[in-house]
Amino acid sequence: MKINRLFGLLMILASAFLFVNCTSDPVPGPPGADGIDGIDGIDGTDGVDGTASCVSCHANSTREPIFEAFALSAHGAGGTFARGSRADCAQCHGSEGFIDYVTMGAIDTTGLLPNGVAPKYDPAMPVSCNTCHDSHRTFDFENDGPDYALRNPDPSDLVLAPSITIDFGDASNNCITCHQPRNSYEIPAINADGTYQVKSTRFGPHHGPQSTMLEGILGAEIAGMESYPARGSATHRTGSSCVQCHMGDAADVDEGGHSWAYVEALCIQCHGAVPGEANGFTADKNTLLALLNNVEGQAVLLDEDGDPVYDENGDLIPVEGTVTGILLPNGRSQYGIFSDVAAMAAWNYKTVDEDQSRGIHNPDYTKALLKNSIEALQND
Ligand code: HEC
Ligand code: HEC
Ligand code: HEC
Ligand code: HEC
Ligand code: HEC
Ligand code: HEC
Repeated sequence: MKINRLFGLLMILASAFLFVNCTSDPVPGPPGADGIDGIDGIDGTDGVDGTASCVSCHANSTREPIFEAFALSAHGAGGTFARGSRADCAQCHGSEGFIDYVTMGAIDTTGLLPNGVAPKYDPAMPVSCNTCHDSHRTFDFENDGPDYALRNPDPSDLVLAPSITIDFGDASNNCITCHQPRNSYEIPAINADGTYQVKSTRFGPHHGPQSTMLEGILGAEIAGMESYPARGSATHRTGSSCVQCHMGDAADVDEGGHSWAYVEALCIQCHGAVPGEANGFTADKNTLLALLNNVEGQAVLLDEDGDPVYDENGDLIPVEGTVTGILLPNGRSQYGIFSDVAAMAAWNYKTVDEDQSRGIHNPDYTKALLKNSIEALQND
């Protein structure tokens, strides 16, 4: 008690000292004269009713067509969502895996089974409204713009190239997490020993490189006659977006909105018609595949099941003989050691093929990838 009182006394003394210090500061002078009044602003337009903006999205008349369209869509029908129980597929092929990935930055692999299945996602839940939508971040739509209560309206880092962030600047950011290449293979590049080991029959960027194609990145950019357009410069990227082309307004439920089928009226606005493919796309793609079918590589050691045998460094083991075709006519890859250029050309073929837009997502980038790959293989 005594010590506490002494301490209190010391504190009072100390603060008194502070006051002394303050009052010794210079004394402020008298206030200055009033400034001149500003001119009146113009009248604002009348606001809408408090709930009108809510009703535009939340009315049953808005929601019924959405449920109908969703049921027709691949997101709603979702044949591939059964794959979402595997840890390396969960972030894109199941609802819970996607939500964990977006909200926690990673999926939950607790108790991972030897076959790669993560028990938390087994069986995988199909995509539903709640996968993409959650809560509004703001109700100030007038100033902040509509957020559609989306779970991930934010820019995304790419899994295959974490230093690259894509920001489409609208609700299309929702698509990036799933519609990007998987991190399963390193993108081939020119290297010191001039070779690339193909260790899979599914070599390539997996099925969804749409975001990177629209952005114009993650091809294996072989130098050649065609120049690669600058990142993010395609008109379909600057003047349109995933949600404008695939979710825009359309008269029918099987187009635009939650059907995700592209809106023809939008193409017509800019083109006057609906163009079918990037100029020369099918011909160039077929030419490239034929060349890739004939590329020769070094044969490698396979076991009795036809699976590759690896050395202690995880490398393929070369054996006598050659294999023909880095890609086979069905588009699958073949085990072997190929030239770096052949691997780059094969990566580019798989990228434009898996993009599934016939070059439309980025016509000029697609053309450069195809034509420079053809040129390189013809000179190889
Ligand atoms: C980074 C996200 C992502 C990961 C990880 C991923 N996928 Fe996919 N996958 C997609 C997207 C997006 C599509 C649909 C794209 C399309 O149709 O173009 C798809 C499509 C598929 C298809 C359908 C292909 C077709 O031609 O119809 C299969 C099968 C598939 N994935 C299997 C898998 C398996 C198995 C794994 C795990 C080993 C996996 N995916 C991992 C994003 C991913
Ligand atoms: C794959 C992701 C995804 C799924 C699944 C999804 N939505 Fe959406 N939804 C979006 C995106 C993105 C937008 C914004 C579209 C835009 O910018 O035009 C949106 C917009 C909306 C809107 C407001 C605009 C409009 O279309 O009228 C409503 C309401 C809506 N969604 C309801 C639903 C309902 C109900 C379901 C389930 C049946 C659902 N969504 C499933 C991604 C999704
Ligand atoms: C541009 C379209 C849009 C507008 C405008 C809008 N919402 Fe939403 N809202 C959605 C979508 C999409 C969802 C999530 C999917 C669903 O349930 O339809 C949602 C979800 C909600 C939810 C449930 C999730 C949560 O946030 O807790 C509430 C509550 C809600 N909205 C209230 C409102 C109110 C109140 C307004 C008006 C001030 C409003 N919304 C305006 C599209 C909209
Ligand atoms: C949760 C991950 C996920 C998100 C988010 C997502 N998709 Fe998908 N999307 C897929 C998968 C997986 C498929 C293939 C579904 C199947 O066939 O089983 C697919 C299919 C599609 C298809 C149809 C492909 C076909 O074969 O018919 C289109 C178009 C599409 N997505 C566009 C979009 C757009 C645009 C967005 C953003 C608004 C988006 N997706 C958001 C995972 C996703
Ligand atoms: C300029 C308009 C446009 C833009 C922008 C666009 N797409 Fe597409 N997309 C198309 C067209 C056209 C096709 C070919 C569809 C067809 O033949 O049915 C397509 C094909 C696809 C497919 C293949 C499945 C299908 O529907 O056949 C997916 C998946 C897809 N787009 C997703 C996306 C995503 C994700 C984005 C944003 C990163 C995007 N698209 C941006 C127009 C567009
Ligand atoms: C905002 C205007 C705009 C919209 C919307 C648009 N395009 Fe384009 N499109 C262009 C421009 C401009 C080019 C020329 C290439 C460039 O500038 O990137 C182009 C190029 C193309 C090409 C390549 C033509 C060639 O010579 O190789 C195709 C194919 C194409 N668009 C198809 C479509 C389809 C299909 C849609 C609708 C789903 C669509 N576009 C929507 C503006 C648009």
